[in-house]
Amino acid sequence: MQLKDKWALVTGASRGVGLRVAKALAAEGAKVIVHSRQLDSSRAVVEQIEAAGGQAVAVAAELSKRADVQRLIAEVNTITAAHLAILYNNAAIMTPWSDTYQVSADDYANSFEVNCIAPAKLCDAFIPQMIKHAFGRVVNVTSGIADQPQLMAYSCSKAALDRYVRDMLPSISGTGVVMSLMDPGWLQTDLGGEQAPNHPDSVIPGALVPILLASDAPSGQQYNAQDYAQ
Ligand SMILES: NC(=O)c1ccc[n+]([C@@H]2O[C@H](COP(=O)([O-])OP(=O)(O)OC[C@H]3O[C@@H](n4cnc5c(N)ncnc54)[C@H](OP(=O)(O)O)[C@@H]3O)[C@@H](O)[C@H]2O)c1
Repeated sequence: MQLKDKWALVTGASRGVGLRVAKALAAEGAKVIVHSRQLDSSRAVVEQIEAAGGQAVAVAAELSKRADVQRLIAEVNTITAAHLAILYNNAAIMTPWSDTYQVSADDYANSFEVNCIAPAKLCDAFIPQMIKHAFGRVVNVTSGIADQPQLMAYSCSKAALDRYVRDMLPSISGTGVVMSLMDPGWLQTDLGGEQAPNHPDSVIPGALVPILLASDAPSGQQYNAQDYAQ
């Protein structure tokens, strides 16, 4: 699959999984829109991509703020002339560890805003233009988290995003847009913590598999990056 000169937005690309995905997409020839909360953090990644011969643009948005999400959508449409080909919904927040049955309503609300509502609104904004161009790849980053009621807000927000993918399938089937889930595995990132068994570099090449699928590949599949770790 040829990514050359296709526009790709990677959210949360300043570090961890998103940083690896942004660099790997740029190495494949995509023009990468690097997102984080601070323009300086995004610019630092753009500099690394450009130094390696790739093309990238920096953007910033706080995904817990709906106005910021709308501004990000408008900015991406300006950069791409309303022709985004790849959306990598990677940014997420982990909620604090709480006693079982004590997860706060605020933790549910915050995690749903960043981990589900913002990615869903980015999908809503960009999938119709992908369908118009009969090409698109959308990856929503999920999690294999299980049996940890202390992190229930995070877990439920990821489950809700999984459901967005599943229930959107009839709308995108046969359009040239392929939407997938990607579980990076438990990683030594700021979100995953130091005890995690896997280095964040291990997400490549697996995290690119749902991007490199043929246009008639089925949507709604989950790809586990660690299955491809070398
Ligand atoms: N790490 C793991 O073990 C693991 C396991 C399963 C799934 N995942 C998933 O993998 C994805 C990436 O995780 P990671 O471990 O790479 O995380 P990370 O290292 O903590 O990086 C998070 C990224 O998201 C951005 N971000 C955080 N909060 C944001 C907000 N409110 N608005 C906008 N951007 C925000 C950060 O930007 P700033 O630089 O501006 O903060 C950063 O670029 C997430 O979807 C996560 O749920 C991770």
